[in-house]
Amino acid sequence: MSVKENILEILEKNKNSSVSGQFIAENLGVSRAAVWKAVKSLRDEGYSISAVNNQGYCLGEDSDVLSVPAIKSFLHEDVNLIVLKTVDSTNNYAKKLAMENAPDKTVVVSETQTAGKGRLGRNFFSPDKTGLYMSVLFRPEKSAGETLFITIAAAVAVCRAIETVSELFPQIKWVNDVFVNGKKVCGILTEASASMENQMIEYAVLGIGVNVKSADFPNDLKNIAGSLGDEKISRSRLCAEILNELLELYSLEDKKALIDEYKKRSLVLGKEVKFTKNGKTYSGVACDINDSGNLIVKTSKGTETLISGEISIGSENYAE
Ligand code: BTN
Repeated sequence: MSVKENILEILEKNKNSSVSGQFIAENLGVSRAAVWKAVKSLRDEGYSISAVNNQGYCLGEDSDVLSVPAIKSFLHEDVNLIVLKTVDSTNNYAKKLAMENAPDKTVVVSETQTAGKGRLGRNFFSPDKTGLYMSVLFRPEKSAGETLFITIAAAVAVCRAIETVSELFPQIKWVNDVFVNGKKVCGILTEASASMENQMIEYAVLGIGVNVKSADFPNDLKNIAGSLGDEKISRSRLCAEILNELLELYSLEDKKALIDEYKKRSLVLGKEVKFTKNGKTYSGVACDINDSGNLIVKTSKGTETLISGEISIGSENYAE
């Protein structure tokens, strides 16, 4: 790591309190002038660092720039982490890396996306500096059918992480949207490539988009999308907490506990839902999620098992 990255790591670990220039310089084995120069350069990049006389440098609580040192300071496990200022789509970037043999658990994060992708060919609104757009490359030695568990683990991980960094109570709308107070705050898009020969996953790219502070949604999203809304939430911390939870859930062999938690966090169980299958629209009550993560809906004509697709709750249409 460069001097600048090392300083950032120290300041992130001591966010909102002062660290003396002398301490930093001695710790990193550099001069105080070198510390000052690096701090100036960090400020130019947008970090809010104040210098308090005789006390040192302080990274303000409101400073929220995504960076490798900031994210790593909260991570429990080392990952191959790439942080970008802008990109078309972190999923596309991670897929390119996958084809260049990037390792399992490579993570790509960006401050903004110029062509963020949603499910079913939609766009994902990805404004600069207010959201969290991240993709994780996995290389599971599993069959293609297991991809759904990655998505399910991601939805649970996002809920847990939101609870860790805020007072909010997130819920999951099957299969992979996270809602807070009736609004969608997070979307998840998993793209996998499987071998034609044995249907084993070659790689899976899990994309997660969270509206953290975004407020100015375009008209078509205004009634659907919401954000966590707390200016104090650090996106770097949220990113790390999501990864901590996700990597723990991903390594679980027994999926029963994961499904149980997913069900407990469900926004749809017990509710009247609508869905389309083979061109026909059905409605019924979402009564269960089975051990494979499929949604069981009781309609007037019998029971339907939904493996993928989209549902709407009651008369609402929640598609973003
Ligand atoms: C959806 O709600 O339809 C899924 C949205 C997924 C958005 C994330 S943002 C990070 C990653 N990169 C993308 O282009 N899409 C996913």
